[in-house]
Amino acid sequence: MARHRLPRLLLLPVTLTILILLFLSSSPPPPPPQPPIPCGAAPSDATAGRWVPTPSPPPPPLYIQSCPFHRNAWNCLRNGRPPVAALSWAPSRCGGAVVPRLDPAAFLAAARGRRIGLVGDSLSENLVVALLCALRSGDGGARKWKRRGAWRGGYFPREDVVVAYHRAVLLAKYTWQPVENSKPQSDGIKGTYRVDVDIPADDWANITKFYDVLIFNTGHWWGPDKFPKETPLVFYRGGKPIEPPLGIFDGLKVVLRSMGSYIEREVPSKTLKLWRTQSPRHFDGGEWDHNGSCVSDRLLEENELDSWFDPRFGGVNKEARLVNSAIWEALVGTDIQLLNLTYMSEFRADAHPAIWLGKKDAVAVWGQDCMHWCLPGVPDTWVDILAVRILHYFKQGKG
Ligand SMILES: *[C@@H]1O[C@H](CO)[C@@H](O)[C@H](O)[C@H]1NC(C)=O
Ligand SMILES: *[C@@H]1O[C@H](CO)[C@@H](O)[C@H](O)[C@H]1NC(C)=O
Ligand SMILES: *[C@@H]1O[C@H](CO)[C@@H](O)[C@H](O)[C@H]1NC(C)=O
Repeated sequence: MARHRLPRLLLLPVTLTILILLFLSSSPPPPPPQPPIPCGAAPSDATAGRWVPTPSPPPPPLYIQSCPFHRNAWNCLRNGRPPVAALSWAPSRCGGAVVPRLDPAAFLAAARGRRIGLVGDSLSENLVVALLCALRSGDGGARKWKRRGAWRGGYFPREDVVVAYHRAVLLAKYTWQPVENSKPQSDGIKGTYRVDVDIPADDWANITKFYDVLIFNTGHWWGPDKFPKETPLVFYRGGKPIEPPLGIFDGLKVVLRSMGSYIEREVPSKTLKLWRTQSPRHFDGGEWDHNGSCVSDRLLEENELDSWFDPRFGGVNKEARLVNSAIWEALVGTDIQLLNLTYMSEFRADAHPAIWLGKKDAVAVWGQDCMHWCLPGVPDTWVDILAVRILHYFKQGKG
């Protein structure tokens, strides 16, 4: 036996050399196969597709009027609105299939021990309510959770999952500064809101490392409805007023860039960072305070979308696409991915709370609500898309 061993040992360096040479001369090995991207998880799945009737038999609803996470004004069934049509989103890529509905128990199991946070304005809240109510059907022990500055949230004990929303309507920190009484104001200004473009609002400044998935939005407060000329926004950087002063839309652009780089820097790279684009409004016939209405059960046709939303036509709902172009410019090249739900939502003029707001005088005071969405309704489809995207991210071994 010993006679054979020696020549074999001598062969070893030769074999190794040949192997190394082969390795160096051959092209790099192919990357390991990626799991196929499930329907709904590709970013383009939300931006190319159409609404179709939910394949029958439609599954029973994941939640009803009594879900404890509801916010009254969006609980349209309780408020007497006829149910929103049961429609599903069929992405062009999926060959006729629709984005599968969230399986709450399976989602919670896959998200075991994880935390999902949303940060932004009430449209993020609209989305989180849909997500909380849906997930609750997968864990009856779900309870409210409002720690770490969360405005609304839930804890799902079976799989130890947290889902919460942090209210930060401008994302950046802003503070009310009344004018001093001694100074007479000829211009009618009652005070200003100081926006520190480089400082995140307290509500989320400290949670950047707490969550495994973070979904941001801002956009609906950047207009004269919220900040009229008597109480304008004034932008500061490094503690000093920005000179010359910025108008509100330029201020938005600066805040988007600055918050984008804060998120890139402060949120760990293994965290899934998403930015939800604008939710379109559907005020027909006038602004919210000029009898704008969305009492409708008709979806818009594809060829109507531009006349409703293209800023070139100057309609009352042009805000969404305007803000979106600022979001795109600010975030391109960062590690924050867009969750572009605008296009699919533009069709859905049929799905807002409108006059069914649950309070007698709400419409007289506030006008119709053609901005938020009924629940159940369109945000459930947002949830389905968000869920497949999150699960795909986890399955790739990220997060
Ligand atoms: C969102 O998707 C629509 C439809 O494809 C597209 O026109 C729009 O530019 C996208 N917006 C952003 C911010 O990427
Ligand atoms: C954030 O955390 C730091 C350090 O723990 C603390 O000093 C600060 O007050 C916190 N800020 C907010 C807004 O909670
Ligand atoms: C809204 O409609 C009511 C009733 O038709 C009318 O009296 C009122 O002037 C309208 N308001 C505006 C701002 O157009």
